[in-house]
Amino acid sequence: MKNLFNICFGLLCLNAVAQTTQLVIPDTLIGPNYTLNMHKDSVQFFPGNKSHTYAFNSFNYLGPTLIFNKGTNVNITVNNQIGDTTTVHWHGIHLPSKWDGGPHTPILPSASWNPTFTVMDNAATYWYHPHLHMKTAEQAIKGAAGLIIVRDPIEAALNLPRKYGVDDFPLVIQCQQYDSANQAMPLGMQDSTILINGARANYGYTVYANCPAQVVRMRILNASGERAFNFGFTANMQFKIIASDGGLLNAPVNTTRLRLAPGERAEILLDLTGMNGQTIHLMSYASELAMGIQGGPTMPMPSGPPMDSPLNGVDFNIMQINVVPQTASPVTTIPATLTTNNPYPTGSANITRTIRFTADSMMVMDGPFYFNDSTFNMMRIDYEIPLNNIEIWKLVNETMVAHPFHIHDVQFYLFDRSGTTPPAEELGRKDVVLVPPGDSVMFITKFEDFADTIIPFMYHCHILMHEDDGMMGQFIVKPNLTSVSEIALNDLSIKIYPNPAKEILFLNIEQLSNPKPVEVKVYNNIGKLIYQTGTKDTNTVIDIGQWASGLYVIEIQQEGSRAFKKIIVE
Ligand code: C2O
Ligand code: CU
Ligand code: CU
Repeated sequence: MKNLFNICFGLLCLNAVAQTTQLVIPDTLIGPNYTLNMHKDSVQFFPGNKSHTYAFNSFNYLGPTLIFNKGTNVNITVNNQIGDTTTVHWHGIHLPSKWDGGPHTPILPSASWNPTFTVMDNAATYWYHPHLHMKTAEQAIKGAAGLIIVRDPIEAALNLPRKYGVDDFPLVIQCQQYDSANQAMPLGMQDSTILINGARANYGYTVYANCPAQVVRMRILNASGERAFNFGFTANMQFKIIASDGGLLNAPVNTTRLRLAPGERAEILLDLTGMNGQTIHLMSYASELAMGIQGGPTMPMPSGPPMDSPLNGVDFNIMQINVVPQTASPVTTIPATLTTNNPYPTGSANITRTIRFTADSMMVMDGPFYFNDSTFNMMRIDYEIPLNNIEIWKLVNETMVAHPFHIHDVQFYLFDRSGTTPPAEELGRKDVVLVPPGDSVMFITKFEDFADTIIPFMYHCHILMHEDDGMMGQFIVKPNLTSVSEIALNDLSIKIYPNPAKEILFLNIEQLSNPKPVEVKVYNNIGKLIYQTGTKDTNTVIDIGQWASGLYVIEIQQEGSRAFKKIIVE
């Protein structure tokens, strides 16, 4: 069957006009204010019908790269112009659940959404994409996605390539399936069209990047719906992995392969010094992927329609790299160390939760898949996690298919892969981990900063079809009730927590009858007004990271009545 497929695709190549295009570098948006207009568009990916797409701003597929600086506040306006409900999720970013863009915060057609938050994450490559339940695959593979680059002082102090598009290349890599009318198919298992930053890159199409003859950086996102890639370069050229999903590794990891499942990111350094004029390729060595990993070798189907793509289990080129002359002030050395990651000691965990990946039978290859035998239910909270809990999550894959597990809110540290220490490139901060069939994986993480008793965070398989099919769960992070200060005023019940507080102060105002405006003022220990807000919002998050430690007084006022509460900032 695979041979037949290759012949078909060979013929297609002969008919198509070969096209070679230069890598498109997505424009950047620099904060603190960002506007994202998510709209319908179309792209001539194939001869004949154009493919219907979703995109942001001036793009006709994908969106701009958002640059965030750690410690700053960002204000984002998402305008939904796609004529359908959607959400936008900031994948990997640690923020309050109401701004996380999960399925509980839909943006209706023609509506706008204004998340605003402080960037708390470490320098790394993150991304954004829709997350509407049962429509994530459809909307994401139409192109509604983009990169986020977080910068921070630790990364900035290192001698690393960071000239965007010159020696620092963003690569959004997707493998997609299109139907006979050239439309993206959310249920495709015969995905064979490779797109790099939205441009076709195989079957007669080539994308090339001009990379200077020095150390260059690539920020790679696997934005595919289901395929894993086993990246490498021509002739097994060595490269260094410097960052995982959520931050720098302790030190560069020297390697010839980088496996990335859907949702995962990595940053790599490739030393092209002395190679001016040469051409090499970024490839996927998919023949080396284990059976059961999408994109790896599949069992031959004796009869019926082929379930697999012609790319499965074979090595193929992804992008051509033309080595061009050095730039001015090139980076030519690679730092020996990068940062210090401090995983929580496993002994500090308050609880171990086991999540089994299951299906109706062992033979199921295309879903639906479940967590602990139950399908996703928007009305069911699977876990209530106390704020500041340190937890071990044990993921046990009882199915025949590998699943990339992703959790919102946190970055985690892997410490066990079926009884062995994970490879060095997986020992940094991560938010997606691929769990092959029969394996079990353990990570440790801490649920800090953002409690919300109403809006949950998600965890799910990042194979988008599995996620939409119900391989998802949700948790809320509960405030620590022992440190809640309560005030009653008129028909208001006000909870302020934690007290003492650090970094973030939560204000939960419950309006018992008809909501009226509430005024909140905070005075420091010499009586100076330092914060003020008018709110009807039930949950207000106050960023107190810049406040000096000491005693503060909070004044709550409604229609001339006042109440006061003292809080301590640590
Ligand atoms: Cu990238 Cu919950 O998703
Ligand atoms: Cu996410
Ligand atoms: Cu899955």
